[in-house]
Amino acid sequence: MTTVLVTGASGRLGRVLVERLAADGHQVRAASRTARSGQGPVRWVVADVATGEGLAEAVAGAEVIVHAASAPYKGRYTAKVEVEGTANLLEAAGRAGVGHLVYVSIVGADRVPMGYYRSKVRAEDLVRGGPVPWTILRATQFHEFVADGFRLLSRLGFLPVDPDVRAQPVALADVAGRLAELIAAGPARAIVEYGGPRVLGMAEAGEGWLRAQGLRRPIVRVRLPGAMGRAFRAGHLVTAAEPAGSGTWEDYLRQVAAKR
Ligand SMILES: NC(=O)c1ccc[n+]([C@@H]2O[C@H](COP(=O)([O-])OP(=O)(O)OC[C@H]3O[C@@H](n4cnc5c(N)ncnc54)[C@H](OP(=O)(O)O)[C@@H]3O)[C@@H](O)[C@H]2O)c1
Repeated sequence: MTTVLVTGASGRLGRVLVERLAADGHQVRAASRTARSGQGPVRWVVADVATGEGLAEAVAGAEVIVHAASAPYKGRYTAKVEVEGTANLLEAAGRAGVGHLVYVSIVGADRVPMGYYRSKVRAEDLVRGGPVPWTILRATQFHEFVADGFRLLSRLGFLPVDPDVRAQPVALADVAGRLAELIAAGPARAIVEYGGPRVLGMAEAGEGWLRAQGLRRPIVRVRLPGAMGRAFRAGHLVTAAEPAGSGTWEDYLRQVAAKR
């Protein structure tokens, strides 16, 4: 049994990870900026990585930290959380003698020219040069994130997709399972990549999503502009890393359709 602090515990990945770690028999300290109540092996703590508030208390006694707190696409606050927040967490964790910090990053963070991805690489660099033995897990897009993108775009009345963009969406439960393995393995001092079981074209993924939602919208093929489009088409969002997740996009879509 290990005492694991999870930052971003209320988030998409965090919620699934907290459950997984508790089920594995770990003592879980779940951090959020908001006070929350938990039970059994899960204890919620209030901490804000950007301001540093509550961090010293949150890290005290933690053997491992999984750092999944993030504020994507929120202007300057994004870098504040990702970069300053990671620095604050590392400082507190170093002082408390935490034995292992696992930072959750994104496949292609170093190759996709987007502000959020750049802030992930800056945080990775801090982790790599920081005072706490580390592992970095770069995951591909979660199924839910891809679906959110389609939902937003479909409000146009059609679904624009660049058919040459490839993605490799992964199930949250698989990412949580991989993180549990990395915790058990100890600090790798390496960047580990992890993706879903299959690489999908965006048109195929979008068609499946529309069907699962019962939506009749035409798919309009577009070419994503600029350097970002080029990076996506070059396959920078996918990885050949093994092991890969087992939950498929189709499995996810079946769950979506069943909830409709
Ligand atoms: N989404 C994807 O497809 C994807 C793919 C690969 C990797 N990742 C990475 O996986 C990690 C988790 O992603 P996610 O989609 O689960 O994120 P998410 O749902 O947006 O959750 C992030 C959590 O971070 C917390 N947070 C935000 N600002 C904070 C602050 N100043 N101090 C402390 N906590 C703060 C929030 O919790 P409170 O509001 O409760 O404080 C929020 O619940 C991120 O690092 C992301 O880059 C995501």
